[in-house]
Amino acid sequence: MKEQIVKFTDVSKKYKSGEGEQTVLDNISFAVDKGNFVGVTGDSGSGKTTLLHLMGGLEDVSSGNVETCGKDLKRLSPIKLEEFRRKHISYIFQDYNLIEELTVWENIIFPSQLKGISLEEEKLIEILKILKLEDKRNKFPSQLSGGEQQRTAIVRSIVSKPDIILADEPTGNLDSRNTKVVAKLLQYVNKQYGTTIVMVTHNIALLDYCTDRIKVEDGRIKND
Ligand SMILES: Nc1ncnc2c1ncn2[C@@H]1O[C@H](COP(=O)(O)OP(=O)(O)O)[C@@H](O)[C@H]1O
Ligand SMILES: [Mg+2]
Repeated sequence: MKEQIVKFTDVSKKYKSGEGEQTVLDNISFAVDKGNFVGVTGDSGSGKTTLLHLMGGLEDVSSGNVETCGKDLKRLSPIKLEEFRRKHISYIFQDYNLIEELTVWENIIFPSQLKGISLEEEKLIEILKILKLEDKRNKFPSQLSGGEQQRTAIVRSIVSKPDIILADEPTGNLDSRNTKVVAKLLQYVNKQYGTTIVMVTHNIALLDYCTDRIKVEDGRIKND
């Protein structure tokens, strides 16, 4: 059996809404095998982002257990959780989340510096060349197109060598050409480095790049 890198056991997530409560995820149990590239679909508001947040410890469960990279996230203190996230997890968001005051190059190396990983400059330049970002290395995010910003965000998420990449609609703001580039890039990272990827997407065509698919529906997980 493959190693399970994410394991949900009887997980529920509820939010207060007005007087009452809204159950977003309702007693779900499922696992993600290490090395898989999982595509997550579901209607808007179905709980996909919530699911990623729980996987990465950005939010707490209401009940049940989430184990990521062998750690029961509920048992970690806030400081340990922060440390854990930095060491094991990278996020890619729809709106890129680059730091406006830093250049492309600085944005890319910043999380690795935090982790104490030293990057081989030549290798990084090689990657930037492939992604047509090399001549943008000293530019600031506001000077880049959406596609360039997202490619930068992905390079940043890769080079810190995470065990798992959580991508929340990473192509949501991109045109079809850049959408394909980003999906291929994630697929390459998954195959080449064995990095586990969980990607939320509205774009059904992108599921072709994934090794597995799940759907969030009515608070439950459906295997497609
Ligand atoms: N922090 C929050 N407080 C209250 N309700 C929330 C919060 N985050 C999400 N929700 C609600 O939970 C549901 C699922 O949200 P979300 O996980 O963002 O869905 P999706 O990413 O699938 O669109 C929505 O109804 C949303 O309004
Ligand atoms: Mg969402």
